[in-house]
Amino acid sequence: MQEKVNALLEEIKGIAASTAEEAEHLRIKYLGRKGSITQLFDDFKQLPGDVKREMGKVLNELKTKATDRINALKEHTEVKPEGSSSAIDLSLPVRLDSLGSRHPVQLVRNRIVEIFTQLGFNLSDGPEIEDDWHNFSALNFPEEHPARDMQDTFFVDPGMALRTHTSSVQVRLMETQEPPIRSIMPGRVFRNEAVSSRSHCIFHQVEGLYIDKDVSFADLKQTLLHFAREMFGKSKIRLRPSYFPFTEPSAEMDVYWGLKTETDYRITKGTGWLEVLGCGMVDPNVLTNCGINPEVYSGYAFGMGIERMAMLLYGIDDIRMYFENDQRFLKQFSGVL
Ligand code: PHE
Repeated sequence: MQEKVNALLEEIKGIAASTAEEAEHLRIKYLGRKGSITQLFDDFKQLPGDVKREMGKVLNELKTKATDRINALKEHTEVKPEGSSSAIDLSLPVRLDSLGSRHPVQLVRNRIVEIFTQLGFNLSDGPEIEDDWHNFSALNFPEEHPARDMQDTFFVDPGMALRTHTSSVQVRLMETQEPPIRSIMPGRVFRNEAVSSRSHCIFHQVEGLYIDKDVSFADLKQTLLHFAREMFGKSKIRLRPSYFPFTEPSAEMDVYWGLKTETDYRITKGTGWLEVLGCGMVDPNVLTNCGINPEVYSGYAFGMGIERMAMLLYGIDDIRMYFENDQRFLKQFSGVL
């Protein structure tokens, strides 16, 4: 029996467990009802009286050692309740899922800015609360133009409103800078419109302005073609005649999206063409209003809605998604640069 005890003592020194389950298995193996140490206690009962006393001591020692060892193993594997010092497991991996993601509007804005800054455009900004002059009058909006109507514009005070487009920044630039001016103006704009899946009262635009000597419509077209290639990977565009008070001639640019998939059919209404932005040559009246001589200088301007671009690029079909801060929506853009 002494031999068995010695062997078990040796064995117990070497046992190890990496989970609480493993430690429990060891407890059952040695100390359970049929465990090897428990069995020794059964054998012990058969021993003659004189050996019993000596062996009893030895067996009790073995049992205590085994119990201590197994309890120590359990302590190191079991998850501790919070507050006790060993609750911090330094080997746990970092929880990456709490990282944020960029908003799709920001992603598309950054891409547009990148494309135009590579062409030599700089960035400009202006106030979101504008006076009538910068938002309308300097841009050649007639006094009775419907865009000034209460239905389209959020008025703050008489003569002051939330800007309805970023074209107001054009005016500020031309008033304060000498040409050449080559700038893009991303920003938030506001329109008093019913909110639906297609339109919102708040959205974002990027506007571009280039004023110099001899700027022509061909320059505008080439710049926009470059933009369409870079932004959408499409190299077929068309410019449809349009009207804006501040540009003459004015156009709307469509990109040929193609008709390969069902989605192409749906978003292009079966034509293959998608309207992407508004543009034109800056009206001489606007140049004069801003103190630039239209006999010397000419220029072009263009403007586009960022939400709309993002809808096309990411297949988002409801503009309200941008403003609801639904994590399930926003998380889809994590990892997108
Ligand atoms: N400001 C126009 C709009 O909000 C867009 C535009 C900008 C058109 C510049 C032409 C030139 O729709």
